[in-house]
Amino acid sequence: MSEDSGPLYLRTHHCGQLQAGDVGSKVRLAGWVDSYRDHGGVIFVDLRDREGLTQLVFNPQTHSDSHKAAESLRSEHVIAVEGVVDHRPEGTVNQGLSTGEIEVEVHQIEILSRPESLPFELSEGAEVSEDLRLRYRFFDLRRPKMQKNLHVRHRICQIMRSFLDERGFWEIETPFLTKSTPEGARDFLVPARLSPGEFFALPQSPQLFKQILMMAGYDKYFQIVRCFRDEDLRADRQPEFTQLDLEMAFVAEEQVIEVIEGLMQKLSQEILKIEVPEKFPRLSYAEAMDRFGCDRPDLRFGMEIKDIKAIAENCQFKVYQEAIKSGGQVRGICVPGGAGLSRKELDELTTFAKGFGAKGLAWFRGDPDKLYSPLTKFFSQEQLATLTNTFETKCGDLILTIADKPDIVAKTLAALRNSMAERFKLIPQSSYEFCWVLDFPLFEADTETQKPTPMHHPFTSPRLEDIDKLQSSPLETRARAYDIILNGTELGGGSIRIHQQQLQQQVFSLLGIGADEAQSRFGFLLDALRLGAPPHGGIALGLDRMAMLFTGTDSIREVIAFPKTQRGNCLMTEAPSGVDEKQLAELGLRIAAPAKKKPPQ
Ligand code: AMO
Ligand code: AMP
Repeated sequence: MSEDSGPLYLRTHHCGQLQAGDVGSKVRLAGWVDSYRDHGGVIFVDLRDREGLTQLVFNPQTHSDSHKAAESLRSEHVIAVEGVVDHRPEGTVNQGLSTGEIEVEVHQIEILSRPESLPFELSEGAEVSEDLRLRYRFFDLRRPKMQKNLHVRHRICQIMRSFLDERGFWEIETPFLTKSTPEGARDFLVPARLSPGEFFALPQSPQLFKQILMMAGYDKYFQIVRCFRDEDLRADRQPEFTQLDLEMAFVAEEQVIEVIEGLMQKLSQEILKIEVPEKFPRLSYAEAMDRFGCDRPDLRFGMEIKDIKAIAENCQFKVYQEAIKSGGQVRGICVPGGAGLSRKELDELTTFAKGFGAKGLAWFRGDPDKLYSPLTKFFSQEQLATLTNTFETKCGDLILTIADKPDIVAKTLAALRNSMAERFKLIPQSSYEFCWVLDFPLFEADTETQKPTPMHHPFTSPRLEDIDKLQSSPLETRARAYDIILNGTELGGGSIRIHQQQLQQQVFSLLGIGADEAQSRFGFLLDALRLGAPPHGGIALGLDRMAMLFTGTDSIREVIAFPKTQRGNCLMTEAPSGVDEKQLAELGLRIAAPAKKKPPQ
């Protein structure tokens, strides 16, 4: 390398690149000191950048100046070096590292930045609270794990783009400063300085814009787009998150499903290096609720829910009898190998069940020749035999039953099923089970008012054969909606839309949105529907959730560079934050209640 090859940090290679074939080459590398070892004179440094690690060697005999400088190195110093690639001595080759066969004997070093004390250790096993990690996200993002996660996310996006481009989809942007697009959450509002007293809403999804693009003739649209929803947060929810959003014209359910199955195959091959079936299993909403107690069944394990009404109504156990008499259900699951749970653990399970509204939990252990439970006295031998047969109970299994209103039975058994699968390690490692859930109800009853509210959003088409039920029994109307589920997580949802203006008006009015309100909130959609709208439909997939499942992490915060906490704030920037009086005055705003003091972080 000549003297005029510029500053040392103009590297020739990255830290994951050098191989045995490079031995003898003069190279320049730059990055962060990942680890530092002084082996009786010779100093070894693992230099890290986004791409990997390279071992540097500082030899006091041959390059005493560089060695001297290296003596002051500590973790996370930023350095640039020049040196020559050499084989690692025999016995020190590291097969687990892309550069494990070589090391770089350093001739020249420049220390570019010496960090002050570090907020925490970056090493894989170090226990660091998530709040601390998020406060110092600029530091935390240096973790190889985070870099790998964000790389997977990047690759998912690139694969999506090329897959959809090859199939004729166009990427079109839709506005962020817009009007409310209802998806069941609260809006984030943005005051409009040029229209005092008025607000934009950040989109909960591009739903209405993508429908309008179909009406404008832009047949196949997609966008990898941020959505904003002010809702209670969980491990798989963020107030701003990203969707792969798409829409197609002149299609029915099948065409949308086909595109997504093709995309999932491609992603599974490229990212997970596995083959998934060409067609995913399909369940109706009713079937999913019946067999799994929820509309996002995890198909990686069995333990399906069984109904034991026939036994319950004829036995002597009051709890069962009364549930059936009052129109409820008695159902249960059989946990393979669950019989070893102690009485104390069963009591804890009962408390867990009560957390979902159940009044109790009745259990039966599979013992060598019969079922055991304190309740067996309430059942005939024949009833116990039917119970065993229904659940195909073997010795060592555990039957858990709930007697209650159908929604509580479903909710509790679904939670017990998932929790038992984890506890007894019934979930096969590295398995990916997709399925579709179809035929959702169009509406559900609002928990407070009991009035119909959209299960999905108000633009979803009813199934044509159910149109008559819209007026007579709206809650029984099924929707042309479909959700895609992966390993028990809802990855995405979509539907065929209403493309007739009158039907859209009818649905609005069923939802209690009168003609005037419909015109003021969605006038542009109704106008567009009047001007020639093709049948159309689409779907949106949660990119964050996909990246979470494809990287095997258990929170979407691990695949988002700068996520919000569970409390909805950003610990790094300290947003949201107050604004000064001048800004408020310009916007015509006054704060009615003083800002709440933030709890100490
Ligand atoms: P939906 O509301 O079902 O549909 O959203 C689609 C997918 O987006 C993901 N998602 C979220 N991810 C992280 N944080 C959140 N707060 C969050 N909310 C939703 C989920 C979900 O399945 N416009 C319709 C789609 C359509 O009809 O085409 C929509 O947004 O993975
Ligand atoms: P109890 O009659 O309340 O003493 O309950 C007797 C047993 O039945 C206990 O093991 C309870 O946990 C269980 N149990 C009570 N209510 C229910 C219910 N709704 N479903 C299933 N088991 C129940």
